[in-house]
Amino acid sequence: MADSLPGAAADPGTPRIAPDARLLVTGGAGFIGSAYVRDVLGRRDGARITVLDKLTYAGNRANLAAVEADPELAARYRFVEGDIADPAIVGPLVAEADAVVNFAAESHVDRSILDPEAFLRTGVIGVHVLLEAVRAESGARRAGGRPPVRYLQVSTDEVYGAVLEGRSTETDALAPRSPYSAAKASGELLVHSYVVTHGVDAVVTRGSNTYGPFHHPEKLIPLFVTNAIDDLPLPLYGDGLQERDWLYVSDHAGAIDHVLRFGATGETYNVPGSAELTNRDVVTALLERLGKPWSLVRSVPDRPGHDRRYALDGSKLAALGWRNRTPFADGLASTVDWFVANEPWWRAAKSGDWDAYYERQYGARLAASTEA
Ligand code: NAD
Ligand code: DAU
Repeated sequence: MADSLPGAAADPGTPRIAPDARLLVTGGAGFIGSAYVRDVLGRRDGARITVLDKLTYAGNRANLAAVEADPELAARYRFVEGDIADPAIVGPLVAEADAVVNFAAESHVDRSILDPEAFLRTGVIGVHVLLEAVRAESGARRAGGRPPVRYLQVSTDEVYGAVLEGRSTETDALAPRSPYSAAKASGELLVHSYVVTHGVDAVVTRGSNTYGPFHHPEKLIPLFVTNAIDDLPLPLYGDGLQERDWLYVSDHAGAIDHVLRFGATGETYNVPGSAELTNRDVVTALLERLGKPWSLVRSVPDRPGHDRRYALDGSKLAALGWRNRTPFADGLASTVDWFVANEPWWRAAKSGDWDAYYERQYGARLAASTEA
């Protein structure tokens, strides 16, 4: 399907936080969080960011190396290693922030099928700890006549479950179908309850499938690009006709920042991508960019409960004034080229526990694989 960029930007109104606000960015060493930190600090408008990140297998300080290497950016940046589920770490950091942007999560659906516990700890308990800190600090600030702490929860289109036809709007029922998306939906419900019960100033974004540089190689596009570079098999689940709407990472980070600054309290905003494609279409495009043959692709037994399609209606975000900038063809080309140019980064991400994970996830599947 052709690229479909959302319509013309509307006037977003008055920003809810100042350009030079102090932001606490949780999960800021991951894929999308680090893009957000690089982009917001890179605007050089005075914003200050503290990153709180547990540095799980998916967190990587190398993702923030460009910030640490630039003196002007580094002067407005601080890194704290820690868990969002730890109130002793979270409380003081929230107390010095104007806003919290929560990216922290276990983010891979396949791992949630193998080992769901960490998904619940971070996605439910961790979100609750953040909300409690925001509630307490906001109460103290309101008592002193100051504005509350703003909170943004980064969520996902997967909370709607599989959408076989049409597009999800923000008022549709939540129907998550994997432990990952159930944890994300639970986090959102907690946020909503704190808005209603405690008057917390919170907003939620539901983003589409995101791709770009620094994407962990467990996910479809980086896994297939890096395996193809090494002429390894590409394990395509089922018939490969599942559909996703692909969103370039800097567009996703920009949309999150836009909602943080202009979103109405208590509201949720879909963040659609720019291209609805089957997995076969995506794999064809990345192989073409790499100059590698389709014969690398192997059809393997499907992901249990695999959501066939996601699709988001983006009119609410467009009415708030946000518009994606990156067509899929451009975003994919620069992503593939980034992986080709950054082998040390992804080879490091494919080390440590990687081989054990890969064997557990793909060993039997590849043994049972057929021509794709
Ligand atoms: P990622 O796995 O690359 O990064 C997650 C980051 O969170 C890592 O740096 C990790 O160390 C950190 N983290 C995990 N548990 C933590 C904890 N308890 N305390 C502190 N830090 C912790 O994930 P991503 O792809 O960048 O996704 C970021 C957010 O966006 C997630 O909330 C995810 O659900 C959401 N999202 C992702 C996509 C996508 O396609 N990648 C799309 C929509 C929404
Ligand atoms: O839609 C937003 C979600 O997108 C985010 O909330 C998640 O954090 C993010 O991981 C992503 O979830 P998906 O499950 O859609 O992404 P993944 O890259 O794992 O898979 C994309 C598609 O490719 C999906 O249909 C499964 C398929 N796939 C994936 C892998 C890893 C394969 O066919 N083979 C694979 O080896």
